[in-house]
Amino acid sequence: MYRQFFGLNRSPFDISPDPYFLFATVRHNEALASIVHGVIRRKGFMVLTGEVGTGKTLMVRCLMELLRTRHVATANVFNPRLRPAEFLYYIIGDLGMTVASPDNKGILLLQLYNYLIARQRTNQATVLIVDEAHNMDVELLEEIRLLTNLETAQQKLLQIVLVGQPELDQKMDSPQLRQLKQRITLRCTLEPLEESETKAYIWRRLERAGANSRASSLFSEGATSAVYHYSRGIPRLINTICENALIAAYACQSKFVNKEIIDEVAVDLRLHVSQGSALSSNGLTEGQQVLARSMLDLIDVLERMAHGSPVSAQTGDSEAKMV
Ligand SMILES: Nc1ncnc2c1ncn2[C@@H]1O[C@H](COP(=O)(O)OP(=O)(O)O)[C@@H](O)[C@H]1O
Ligand SMILES: [Mg+2]
Repeated sequence: MYRQFFGLNRSPFDISPDPYFLFATVRHNEALASIVHGVIRRKGFMVLTGEVGTGKTLMVRCLMELLRTRHVATANVFNPRLRPAEFLYYIIGDLGMTVASPDNKGILLLQLYNYLIARQRTNQATVLIVDEAHNMDVELLEEIRLLTNLETAQQKLLQIVLVGQPELDQKMDSPQLRQLKQRITLRCTLEPLEESETKAYIWRRLERAGANSRASSLFSEGATSAVYHYSRGIPRLINTICENALIAAYACQSKFVNKEIIDEVAVDLRLHVSQGSALSSNGLTEGQQVLARSMLDLIDVLERMAHGSPVSAQTGDSEAKMV
């Protein structure tokens, strides 16, 4: 409804991870380039981590687009709460094969191996990308380790990219997963945006949504600083704040978003700074962190619902993380 008012042809701050809106910092470019390079060079096993809402799933989508242009076959698992046989079944299906025998893990593995060998003969890479990999249990992570064993004398046949929240690193620190950890050949971390990047991010999304040359004037300097202050540079929170700010500006028929509007939105979203309690390493008080996390988790659930994925297990987990 507000799009026409602001002369936009798309929603600038939609929370779905759409590569069209990518704002790539040097760090994003480096992470993408390193992973693509790792896949092409058959590096084997790579890990990308980042806090909730920092853009991991968006990176997965960008990565898949990049890899497709290089004729790399990709299997993308986005809900890794699966048993090992289901996991293999899913991967094989996602690579476009008809599954030979759904319950027989040995046959599934052989089918995957034959597929990988055939691709290797024509020098074509295959990659498995697991998003939300922090949700994998130890049994499935061990299965991943076994998949890294699929190799010829010269090369790994399957390149694997695990993407997840920092808990993934902690999981892989466990003694049971020592062997898997030793196989990691590349690690990348997505950090929140800095203040100047937050401003450029907002402009970029507005510009892509059709604001073009007006992008830099829709939000005042004070407004973008306030967005950074409340979001701490976490893109998903930036989107939620900015989307609400545009709606609020539209409601009072203001063509611009100023700091006061952002402050009001922050209060509505309960992100406003609370009474001088100790700040954590990322600058948020404990209470703010819990609130921010629960908001991000809620947004995550809504996003999943919008994409028709099951959410009940995720919701339970989010609650567990918050306590
Ligand atoms: N670098 C970026 N450029 C543009 N949009 C981004 C960027 N990083 C994150 N976003 C947006 O922020 C939101 C959350 O990103 P997402 O990839 O779902 O986070 P995560 O998977 O880490 O929880 C999405 O709307 C996504 O499009
Ligand atoms: Mg994600």
